[in-house]
Parts: sequence; C-alpha cells; structure tokens
Amino acid sequence: MRSIGIALCCLLLFSAAAFGQGDRGTTGTTVTFYGDVLPILQARCQSCHRPGEVAPMSFLSYQTTRPWAKAMKAAVIERKMPPGGLDPQYGHFVDNFSLTQSEIDTIAKWADGGAIEGDTKDAPPPAQWVEGWRSNPDVVIEVPPFDVPARGWVENTIMVLPNPFKKDTWVTSIEIRPGVPAVMHHAGVRFAPHMDGVKYGQFFWSDIKRDEAGVHIPGQPRPQRVTFCSDDSSKVCPAPETDLIPDGAAAGFEGFYRPGAAPLDYAYYKTAYLIPANTDVVLSLHWTPIGKAVTDVTKIGFVVAKQEPQRQLSMRALKPRGNDGWNDRQRWRIPAGDSNWEAPPKDVIFNMDAELAVMSIHMHEHGKDMKYMLMYPDGKVETILNQPHYDFNWQMTYNLERTLKIPKGTKLRVMSHFDNSLNNKFARDPNRDVYGGEQSWEEMDAPWIGLILDIGVDPKNVYSENPGDEASFWSRTQSN
Ligand code: HEC
Repeated sequence: MRSIGIALCCLLLFSAAAFGQGDRGTTGTTVTFYGDVLPILQARCQSCHRPGEVAPMSFLSYQTTRPWAKAMKAAVIERKMPPGGLDPQYGHFVDNFSLTQSEIDTIAKWADGGAIEGDTKDAPPPAQWVEGWRSNPDVVIEVPPFDVPARGWVENTIMVLPNPFKKDTWVTSIEIRPGVPAVMHHAGVRFAPHMDGVKYGQFFWSDIKRDEAGVHIPGQPRPQRVTFCSDDSSKVCPAPETDLIPDGAAAGFEGFYRPGAAPLDYAYYKTAYLIPANTDVVLSLHWTPIGKAVTDVTKIGFVVAKQEPQRQLSMRALKPRGNDGWNDRQRWRIPAGDSNWEAPPKDVIFNMDAELAVMSIHMHEHGKDMKYMLMYPDGKVETILNQPHYDFNWQMTYNLERTLKIPKGTKLRVMSHFDNSLNNKFARDPNRDVYGGEQSWEEMDAPWIGLILDIGVDPKNVYSENPGDEASFWSRTQSN
C-alpha cells in the first residue's frame, strides 16, 4: 500500500509538469514510453501486469509493452482496464487503480503516435515489487497442494488449519498468496473457536447435484459435506463431522484474496486484528479451471503488530432482506431474461457511533451494479460508493483514504442490480431463473464492511441488521 502511495505521489508531480508546463524533456506533443506512459503503468497496471501475477502479459519493459499499445488504448477508453474502477464522483480510496481522464488520454496519444520508446533518461526509477508477497510476513503457513483440473468446476472448498499463534496475537496484515494466481478465483481466511476432533488440512466441500451445464438442480435436499477418501484420494467420501464448520461464504473475512489487489494493511488505519488463542484458521478457497491442469499451493502470511492498537477493525458481512439472505429462493431469485433485477436491500441501522474504513463488493456473473448509501439521523442521504459497471472477474475491496464517521442512528443501505438477459455476455442461460449459490454462474449478493471500533466494543452490538419494515426503513420520517 505504501509503495502505491509513493508511486501515486510521483505520478501527480509528474502530471503537473507534463500537462502544466509541458517542459519535461518531451515537446509536449510527443508522448513517449519512458517519459509519459511508464509512470502510469507503474502506478496502475504493474501490480497485475508483471511476471508471476494474474495478467497474461508484462508491462515492465518497453519491449513487452509495445505490442499491446493499441489494445491498451481500447481497454482504458472502454474502462475495461484497470478493472474495478468506481464512479469517481464518490469516495477516495487507497488501493484504487482507476485512471484519470488525462492518464487515459496519455495512453491513447501514445498508441496513436506509434508507441514511441523515447529516452531512458526520462524513465522513472523501476517500481520496487516484492517478489510474491506484498506484505512482509513474520509467520507463514501453507495449505496442502490442491490439484485443479483442466476443465469442469471445483466447488468452493473449506479447510481448517491449526492457528500458528499459541496466545492472543495482534496482526496488521493477513496476506493470502496463491501458488498459481491464475486459478485462484478468491480465497478468504477467518478464525473460529477451536473445534474438537476437526481434521486439519483436509479439503471439504458440499456435494451439490448439478446438471451437465453445471447448473445446481433445484429442489434437492441440503447438500452433504464431502472430502477426499482417506484410503483413496481419487474418490469422494461423506464428511458429516464437518457440518459444524461454518462455510463462511456469507461471512466477513479477516483476510481476503482477489486477483491483483493488495492485502488490507490494518496499520494504515492504526489498528490491528486480534487472532484469539484457541481458535482454528478456517479457509474458504475457490479455484477455477483454466484449460490446463495445475497444482496450487497457497500460503498465508501474517504480519505481527509491533504494539497493541487502541482500536479494532472489524469486518462484517451484510445480508439481503429475506429469509437467510441470498439463500432465500422465494425472495432472492433473478427471473429469466431480466436485464435489471433489483435485489432486496441490505440494510443496517447503527446503535452507536462507529467509523467506516472498508467497503467491499461481491457478486457473481450476473452482478451489474452496487451502491452504498448512508442516511444520517437528520435525514440527509449520501452516496458513499458507486460501482456502476461491475465486472464479475474482479471482486474488489475499497479502503477509504480517510475513515467516515457514522453517528448513532445512521442507516446504511446497499442496493444491487443483476442482469440475467442476453445483454450480459457472462449470463450462461438467460432462459433460466438464477438463485443464490457458490459457483460463478449462481449468485451472491454479499457486500461487506470494515468498521473501526474501540477495543472492547462487541462488533455484534454496533448495528441491527435489516430492522423493521423494508419500505419505511429508508423514509426520512421514520426513525425505526
Ligand atoms: C487487478 C489486476 C489488473 C490491473 C491493475 C490491470 N490489469 Fe490489465 N489485465 C488483467 C488481466 C487478468 C487480464 C487478462 C484477462 C482479461 O482480459 O480480463 C488483463 C488484460 C489486459 C489487456 C488485454 C485486454 C484485451 O482486450 O484482450 C490489456 C490491453 C490490459 N490488460 C491493459 C491494462 C492497463 C493499460 C492497465 C493499467 C492502466 C491494466 N491493464 C491494469 C489484470 C489487470
């Protein structure tokens, strides 16, 4: 996070020089790779576009970037790249790759002008990328190897590992580092009270019945938890004892991996996360086949806090209204062909003062947009985050540059829309209704937030979820 901060500051200085006076070695009309484009790539693209990361090509050097000039222009103009860009009207976020209009113009001009190399003297110093890890972990644990097949699907997997800390430990970062980033769709870490008899290091998943297209067959009984058989790991055996392990898909995660994004740095907010002794590490791991079989070994790194923080940062998942959120198959159903289905609101009302630091967006292939709004006790409504063009490949978490003070009595409403029509190229079968589920073609409607609270405050008491009546909740005259 810090390195992005530094890159950003230099970029701002640079833009002032290049566009203000136009005297930075270039004539002001010739846009060059070293003078103009490379600083943008360092700040906004190289975290993914370098060897070993999620993007297929590297933008570290002129030689590897040059062939992509035209495609880069197209991708930035369409705002397809960098992924996850928000409506710039709302909020300032620390790990946002979004380009300014002048950066887009620079890349376009460079491509139009023949993608000129320019003089290496104009180049900024190379960005310092830490190989693999982005944090500098003090303690690392490893998930056993998992074979991801070339094709088909892999159900969302859960695994329990021993907590590497024997006593209560404050950490400032939890980084998940897949061995093969291209196959890791997402991964999350939580901590749950130690479960007696739990088997560590085993992959568990739900045996969901699917048709040949991979679609969850409706009406089946609750799927059974299964695992690889202990005597023959090519076979699948029931694992009833694991029904106790919460599957976590709908819970907030303390550590989360999504392609390209830096892990949350709790130290940025002068807080840390307390990993209680006597807990187990519960992982949620979701791999996606990429056309060739690979073996992934994911690692988890912890940065131990130098001192005990004054305040805590607590991650909370928000649930749509209805009976058990997006698992409610009556209420949470995207009708076949609907291009703009409005999901039930995700509502909370704060019972005490709080401070908001993190907002996250998680939907699957039909996700279209998501918006976070606050209604203050005086009735004033404010949009605090707007993602008008959600792209399911990128489940981004947005960390506020400055936390937002939320007075007691404030309401938070998150709205989302889904597209299950031919307009959505990701929708696999717009002739069928879509329900909640764990695969990419099923849906999730799972925003989550990070709140900064005094130590000792129980996060569960901070707000009430989906209170009262849905229609009157968001009216200014009702106090609920
Ligand atoms: C968060 C990770 C990430 C960031 C940041 C990112 N990219 Fe990408 N980019 C990818 C991945 C992954 C792909 C390949 C899959 C795809 O096309 O979505 C890709 C593909 C591309 C492509 C090929 C698109 C096509 O039409 O085939 C271009 C061009 C591109 N990126 C340009 C950029 C530029 C320019 C930036 C910075 C301004 C950038 N990317 C930032 C991850 C990223």
